[in-house]
Amino acid sequence: MTIEKIFVVGAGTMGNGIAQTAAVSGYQVTMMDVIPEALEKGQATIAKSVSKLLEKERITAEQHAAAMNIQAASDLSSVAAADIVIEAATENPQLKFKIFQELDEQARPGVILASNTSSISLTKLAAATQRPELVVGMHFFNPVPLMKLLEVVRGLATDETAVKTVVAIGETMGKVPVVVNDSPGFVSNRILCPMINEAVFTLQEGIASKEDIDTVMKLGMAHPMGPLTLADLIGLDVVLYVMEVLHENLGEDKYRPAPLLRRMVDAGYLGRKAGKGFYEYD
Ligand SMILES: NC(=O)c1ccc[n+]([C@@H]2O[C@H](COP(=O)([O-])OP(=O)(O)OC[C@H]3O[C@@H](n4cnc5c(N)ncnc54)[C@H](O)[C@@H]3O)[C@@H](O)[C@H]2O)c1
Repeated sequence: MTIEKIFVVGAGTMGNGIAQTAAVSGYQVTMMDVIPEALEKGQATIAKSVSKLLEKERITAEQHAAAMNIQAASDLSSVAAADIVIEAATENPQLKFKIFQELDEQARPGVILASNTSSISLTKLAAATQRPELVVGMHFFNPVPLMKLLEVVRGLATDETAVKTVVAIGETMGKVPVVVNDSPGFVSNRILCPMINEAVFTLQEGIASKEDIDTVMKLGMAHPMGPLTLADLIGLDVVLYVMEVLHENLGEDKYRPAPLLRRMVDAGYLGRKAGKGFYEYD
C-alpha cells in the first residue's frame, strides 16, 4: 500500500511534533485530539515552529504551507481515510488499549496502527486488536522535528512488512530508524532511566552535589547535559514511572527506583514543568 495519508492521535508535545514532521515530509496529515484546547495548542505550536524554520530557510514555502494545511479532528470519524495511524495520546495503558480497540474497528483493514508509547508493551497493545501483525512501535524523541532517532519496536506478533513500512516512513521523515524487539523500556529507556536513577542514588548517598554529579557526566562522558538536569527536563514522574515498569517487569533489584526520586515526585518536585526538581526554574 502506498502511504500518503497519516492520522496522528493526540496533539500534545509528541503528537504535534510528529504531525509537523510528517507534513513537511510530504504526507497528508490529520491530527486528532479529544480536548479542543489541546488541538488548538498543537496547531499553534506547529504554526510557530514552521514559521521559525521558514525564516531560517530550513524549510521551503511549500513545506510551510503543507504544515499549515494539517487537518484537525476531534474524533476518529475520518480515520477510515488514513493509510497509517500513529498514536501519541497520553501514556496510560487502559486509555491506549481502548484507543487501539477503536482504531482497529474504524481504520481500514491492512492499515498499520503504530504507537509512540515510551513504556507500554507493543505486544499487549497489539493483543487489544484483531490485527496484531500490523501493530508496531514508532518511538520518536522530543522535540520530534529536531531529534534524529526513531526507535522502531517490533512486538511479538509484528509482521516484518509492517516493520519495513514504518522504517521507510521514518526515513522519509528524515529520521534514522533503529529496529528493536519489544521489551520493557525498549533500548532507549532501559539504559537512560537506570543511569538517571543511579545519579539520584549518588546524590542521596551524599557522594557528590547535584552540580558535581552533572559536571562529571557532562565533561567526563561528553553528555550534552548532566543526568539530574536531564531528569528535570524529562519530568521526574516520567522517570519514576519508567523505573517502576522496568522493576515490575524485569524483576531485578538493580531497577528499584531511588527513594529520593519517589520522595521528590510525592512532593510535586517534578522538574522543569513544575518550576522545581533537582534545580529551580523561573
Ligand atoms: N514527551 C516526551 O518526551 C515523549 C518522548 C517519547 C515518547 N513519548 C510518548 O508519547 C506519547 C504522548 O506523550 P506527550 O508527551 O505528547 O503527552 P501530552 O500530554 O503532551 O499529550 C497527550 C495528548 O493526548 C491527548 N489525548 C488523551 N486521550 C486521547 C484520546 N482518547 N484520543 C486522542 N487524544 C487523546 C491529550 O488531550 C493530550 O493532548 C506518550 O505515549 C509518551 O509516552 C513522550
